Amino acid sequence: MTARSSLTVVLAAGEGTRMRSSLPKVLHPVAGQSLLAHVLDAAPHGAGASLAVVIGPDHKAVADEVKRVRADAATFVQAERLGTAHAVLAAREAIARGADDLLVAFGDTPLISAETFARLRAPLEKGAALAVLGFRAADPTGYGRLLLEGDHLMAIREHADASAEERKVTLCNAGVMAFEGRRALEILDRIGNANSKGEYYLVDAVAIVREMGLEAVVIETSEDEVRGINNKAQLAEAEAVMQARLRQAALDAGVTLIAPETVHLAADTKFGSDVTIEPFVVIGPGVTIADGAVIHSFSHIVQTSIGKKASIGPYARLRPGTSLGDGVRIGNFVETKAATIEAGAKVNHLSYVGDAHVGANSNLGAGTITCNYDGFFKHKTTIGEGAFVGTNSSLVAPVKIGKGAYIGSGSVITKDVPDDAMAVERSPQNNRDGGAARYREMKMRAKAAKEG
Ligand code: UD1
Ligand code: MG
Repeated sequence: MTARSSLTVVLAAGEGTRMRSSLPKVLHPVAGQSLLAHVLDAAPHGAGASLAVVIGPDHKAVADEVKRVRADAATFVQAERLGTAHAVLAAREAIARGADDLLVAFGDTPLISAETFARLRAPLEKGAALAVLGFRAADPTGYGRLLLEGDHLMAIREHADASAEERKVTLCNAGVMAFEGRRALEILDRIGNANSKGEYYLVDAVAIVREMGLEAVVIETSEDEVRGINNKAQLAEAEAVMQARLRQAALDAGVTLIAPETVHLAADTKFGSDVTIEPFVVIGPGVTIADGAVIHSFSHIVQTSIGKKASIGPYARLRPGTSLGDGVRIGNFVETKAATIEAGAKVNHLSYVGDAHVGANSNLGAGTITCNYDGFFKHKTTIGEGAFVGTNSSLVAPVKIGKGAYIGSGSVITKDVPDDAMAVERSPQNNRDGGAARYREMKMRAKAAKEG
């Protein structure tokens, strides 16, 4: 890592009209995390690294997301969209502080990696005034073209302003740039708007750097890394690229993915060693899976921590706030939410466990339901260690089941059950000797009479 200080300015003022959504473009998710969060995560971190995000007016939700992801980042509002250079200058106050390197990135380009930012900064250390991230575009239409003389970057020509000859160039501007920090403001202030769209183009920095007799260079990367998101189809493509990366990283870390292409991961999923994930599992944000756990097919898991050697599913739904101890077994058609289930406990079939604390080694039979909501408020269910809840029991919260207590099947439990007590809440059973035989005879006679 370089010891140079840096300021990263992320441009996120766009409306994103082509997303056809009320959500600001940079807040759309890829792998369970906003486009903007991906860029903020990849931008330089740590001592000497500062961040500024340029947002549109009325984009409070974007400002909130910035604060959530990088509390140290400053936000600046670009009141009018007059072009990318104009957008960068909305952060003038931060730029004027004069970090060694000024990095500019786009908030809608989520696949960029931290390594690429580092590679882009390296030429500045060797005296270049500007380094531009370039890529070979399969279809360069619409992109700014990088015009080179030998290794020297001479200019960037926007598609609309490019000649027929220049349009043949496939080396394109990814939009990410690194400026020598102390010269950045001087360069940016020289950018004018004499072009076909009348905008202040950041790309004009290259020609200005040349006029100043300074060096500009290109650092190349793959097209996949710099895909910009403008519509839902591109959002889906970025998701596919990100999922492929996440699956590969999981496999490299030793996770067994039996059918990797059917498993959906989140950018922040954390795995222990020897984790197995069966086909068709969806993992949302905030999931941690400890050593030796097995996630069976068709499970859906969000904001959950799973203990060592736990077994989940098939067909389990683990919702936010679920915390499962070591060796916990969650079976088919079980839903959990805001539930702590301690080590060795079993909830094997057809249950809902919400707003609950379940003690170690307890057993919740098939069809156990925590009735946590009274239509107005949520209430808590506490189940002690080693308790046994018989099948088809309803636990009407707030309610406490003591340690080692036993609940008879089919009970509706509305009162606390002391430790080691047995609670049975159902009508006494009534057996009538010969009743079934008499009933059959009566019905058969009635049928015979009707059929005449
Ligand atoms: C830009 C580049 C182009 C490059 C392409 C890569 C310029 C002039 N052109 O073109 O060379 O090949 O990206 O995708 O830089 N933004 C603002 N305020 C503004 C204008 C833009 O915040 O006033 C933000 C947008 O929200 C977006 C980014 O800057 O995140 C880029 O703007 P966009 O209009 O998408 O530029 P392109 O035409 O794609
Ligand atoms: Mg764009």
